[in-house]
Amino acid sequence: MIALKMGGSIITYKSRRFSINTEAIEHMAAELSQFNRPLFLVHGGGSWGHPLAIKFKLSSSSCKMEPTGVGRTRAAMLALSSRVQSALVDAGLEPFYISAQHLLQSEKLIRTLAAAGAIPLSFGDVVHEDRGFRVMGGDEIIKKVNDMIHFERVIFAMDTPGVLDSYGRTIKTLTRRELRLFEGKANDATGGLAAKLRFSFELAENGADVFLLKGDEGDELLKALNGQSFHGTTVKVLRDHRRKEG
Ligand SMILES: Nc1ncnc2c1ncn2[C@@H]1O[C@H](COP(=O)(O)OP(=O)(O)O)[C@@H](O)[C@H]1O
Ligand SMILES: [Mg+2]
Repeated sequence: MIALKMGGSIITYKSRRFSINTEAIEHMAAELSQFNRPLFLVHGGGSWGHPLAIKFKLSSSSCKMEPTGVGRTRAAMLALSSRVQSALVDAGLEPFYISAQHLLQSEKLIRTLAAAGAIPLSFGDVVHEDRGFRVMGGDEIIKKVNDMIHFERVIFAMDTPGVLDSYGRTIKTLTRRELRLFEGKANDATGGLAAKLRFSFELAENGADVFLLKGDEGDELLKALNGQSFHGTTVKVLRDHRRKEG
């Protein structure tokens, strides 16, 4: 199975609250309608989820006991997802929403849906765990589901053509050595690019091909889905670090 994360940076305009990049969503939906293999889809929160999560002190790195703001944050995410799912439906696809809270008990459902031609879909959300409420971002969802499903390929669609160097040029192959260049303070609830790259290396070390690209650039997304060469970044791990599952 192949996994795609549609980043909050490409489905919304992160700098404008509750904005939607309709063209980009429709572009990706059209690309997906040309792809007929089992797919797991996740989207991020962009300017819908993150500002509310931050306002109510919800994040991926800490839990809080009281539910203040949980309902409002989740309602915003549901509204955003409704827009994303409608675009997918309009492109002839059959998204099947599973909440982040329930994903980890849903391995069989994910496999069954994908085999039937539907697209199991989830999104960054607030979950409740032993120590309280916290955000489980889209990138983390991909990592958690990968531990059950072992994706062949994982694609992160964002608003930049992959990971950029300090001159703004796409880094074609990213190794762990370069990782420290992207460590820094993220101004969102899930750790931004640095956290995405940490998850990316874990995914790659667990045997997935991991690609990062611009979601609405030509047919680069479709090429990456098909495993053809594309404009963007490939995460590279040393062979010894790669634990291919059977
Ligand atoms: N060196 C860089 N290369 C690529 N993207 C970067 C870089 N520095 C900052 N970014 C920003 O990081 C964002 C991708 O991380 P993130 O905000 O977590 O995306 P998403 O919304 O897809 O989860 C892009 O929107 C991009 O603007
Ligand atoms: Mg993010």
